[in-house]
Amino acid sequence: MRRILLIVSGSVAAYKALEFARLARKAGFGVTGLLTAGGARFITPHALAAITGGRVYGDLWSLEEEAQVGHIRLARDHEAIIVAPATADLIAKMAVGLADDLATTVLLATTRPVLVAPAMNPTMWAHPATQANVETLRRRGVAFAGPEEGEMAEPETGLGRLVEPPTLLEAVRAVLGNGPLTGRHALVTSGPTFEAIDPVRFLGNRSSGRQGHAIAAALASLGARVTLVSGPVSLPDPPGVRVVRVESAREMLAACEAALPADVAVCAAAVADWRPATETAAKMKKVADAPPPAISLIENPDILATLSSPGPRRPRLVIGFAAETENVLAHAQEKRTRKGCDWILANDVSTGVFGAEENTVTLLTEAGAEPWPRMGKEEVARRLASRIAEVLR
Ligand code: CTP
Repeated sequence: MRRILLIVSGSVAAYKALEFARLARKAGFGVTGLLTAGGARFITPHALAAITGGRVYGDLWSLEEEAQVGHIRLARDHEAIIVAPATADLIAKMAVGLADDLATTVLLATTRPVLVAPAMNPTMWAHPATQANVETLRRRGVAFAGPEEGEMAEPETGLGRLVEPPTLLEAVRAVLGNGPLTGRHALVTSGPTFEAIDPVRFLGNRSSGRQGHAIAAALASLGARVTLVSGPVSLPDPPGVRVVRVESAREMLAACEAALPADVAVCAAAVADWRPATETAAKMKKVADAPPPAISLIENPDILATLSSPGPRRPRLVIGFAAETENVLAHAQEKRTRKGCDWILANDVSTGVFGAEENTVTLLTEAGAEPWPRMGKEEVARRLASRIAEVLR
């Protein structure tokens, strides 16, 4: 049974959460209820418990709940977290990462997909503060259902109504990944690699991991089971994605091989081509009047080429990136042949792509070159994910 956590916050629309819980159980979901203090002013824990058929959570400081590290367990034991209705206040807390009650603590402690169904007065929804918070959460991978246009509790109409329970159930199915890639396993590499010189120094690069992480999120939202092997980045884990953290190219390769078999592999990491030939066990010390030490380099394994090499474990589709500053297409085409991958996304990095919001890519396949317009990295990711879904369908 797929288990979801339903967080109900303080809005007149809270009564609809009861109807949603009833529908979801009827559809075969296990539903756990969590009422915020505001939510409990509109519906009672007893009503929610009767409909979910289990206990209802609410108090972060309840000893019994905390003794079992309740918030961590609630965050992990459910496949998705649904916040319905979500007030402007709760959305704002989520956006800044506050954790001052059980609901916000669970939301901060989860790596599961989160679906938010807002309900509020239309003026509050339209307020730039709320819109900025929603945008922040969207960029972080939080899914939204609604709000809808219509009559509000107060005599007013506009955008702010909670979506109807059947619509919310559809959105739950979408975040849980009943999509075109359901049943497929996708392997994605992302971020830079750090190659140790000594215990405190390393060689690295400026990759932010944004493109790779966005691809992992986009594949997951189409239903794929995703393993994201990431070098050191300061990005949140994409919802619903298994993240394996590594530092060096050799660790990244080992983690990728351990994650096989996969139906598709996307190598978006900026893997260091070389590493120091020796890693000294002790920190290198300055010696007065001595010349600076020379660091000799040796080549790292090529992860994309390794995953592309023919054999029973080769993913059906292997995709690489080619970061180029000149003769972009010619270099990328040569890279596709040399590394043996199926597709290459040629990336013009002469304009400073590392860490940027946008990307200009050309997709190179066996059929030729397909230039994509300049677009956000999330959009590149969505487009690539849907192309992958077409092939694997
Ligand atoms: N790649 C990899 N392992 C490496 C080096 C690169 O998996 N050791 C992958 C990258 O993730 C990317 C593609 O190979 O998908 C191209 O990387 P790039 O650095 O542009 O190519 P290089 O082979 O390093 O060629 P060059 O530096 O000469 O441009």
